[in-house]
Amino acid sequence: MCESFRAARSACWEQGAAAAAGGGGGRSREEPGAAAETLGNSIRSASQASLHHPPAQPRARRAPELTYGNTLMRLDFVWLRDHCRSASCYNAKTNQRSLDTASVDLAIRPQAVRVDESTLFLTWPDGHVTRYGLEWLVKNSYEGQKKQVMHPRILWNAEIYRQAQVPSVDCRSFLETDEGLKEFLQNFLLYGIAFVENVAPTKEDTEILAERISIIRETIYGRMWYFTSDFSRGDTAYTKLALDRHTDTTYFQEPCGYNNYDRAVINTVPHDVVRRWYHAHRALTTELRRPENELWVKLKPGKALFVDNWRVLHGREAFTGYRQLCGCYLTRDDVLNTARLLGLQA
Ligand SMILES: [Fe+2]
Repeated sequence: MCESFRAARSACWEQGAAAAAGGGGGRSREEPGAAAETLGNSIRSASQASLHHPPAQPRARRAPELTYGNTLMRLDFVWLRDHCRSASCYNAKTNQRSLDTASVDLAIRPQAVRVDESTLFLTWPDGHVTRYGLEWLVKNSYEGQKKQVMHPRILWNAEIYRQAQVPSVDCRSFLETDEGLKEFLQNFLLYGIAFVENVAPTKEDTEILAERISIIRETIYGRMWYFTSDFSRGDTAYTKLALDRHTDTTYFQEPCGYNNYDRAVINTVPHDVVRRWYHAHRALTTELRRPENELWVKLKPGKALFVDNWRVLHGREAFTGYRQLCGCYLTRDDVLNTARLLGLQA
């Protein structure tokens, strides 16, 4: 059964269910047991999949399977009907679904199924025909997606980061070329920090830099914050004191992470559990303060640092003298969106 529907090169449709899997024919047929017997060892058979179903309804529940290239995709008829990309089901201009998913019969089965080298054709009981490009299916099916991992992240400490010799991206290349921006974002996704150098050291130029990647997120600190050690905001950041490792804005609805400075009174943990909280806090703090886990960077005028607050903490040593620093918060969705537009898997 499988062999007869193997496409000229690499696609193989395996249904193991009541609906037809014919070469373009519109009639249904039953071939009990055929699926398990004809499939090779390398392909998981429909009958194996059915082992997970109650014996009373094994055949009706079997997932249709499609092999393309090296990917075995286990599909579902309702899913296949729901994701139909025909003009009446899907508006390709707006990328929006026109089909009312709730109107799909949850027991729907196609009258006919056919697969050629590049396309899967399904004819539904009402005559509607759905076509799927096999490339599209591989990209969008569950099994295909599983193979497509997120952009890799490197778990690093100071030594690993130094050895990697991650280059800073030049400001001009960052602002004027997609390659420069992509290189920067790739580093940012890999390590959770990335640098741009040769930035004109002004608030305005830093703002232009930020806007190259994302929408700037306004907060109670303003759009661009600009701080010196004048305590103007009533926050430790605006002093010369050391700042322990932390992430920012933990008190927002979309918080960035851990911050001992802004931690509220612990009043949601009962007395007999609160000591465990402190033990956990101590263990975490010990890890965070290990010298090998810290990268010390002297920020000079013109060097901009981007930090992924979901991954990397930051802090500073106490200092003397006059220091100016400006920056802003970016919206995470837009940073990741920019990365995706450049072809990165963010
Ligand atoms: Fe901070």
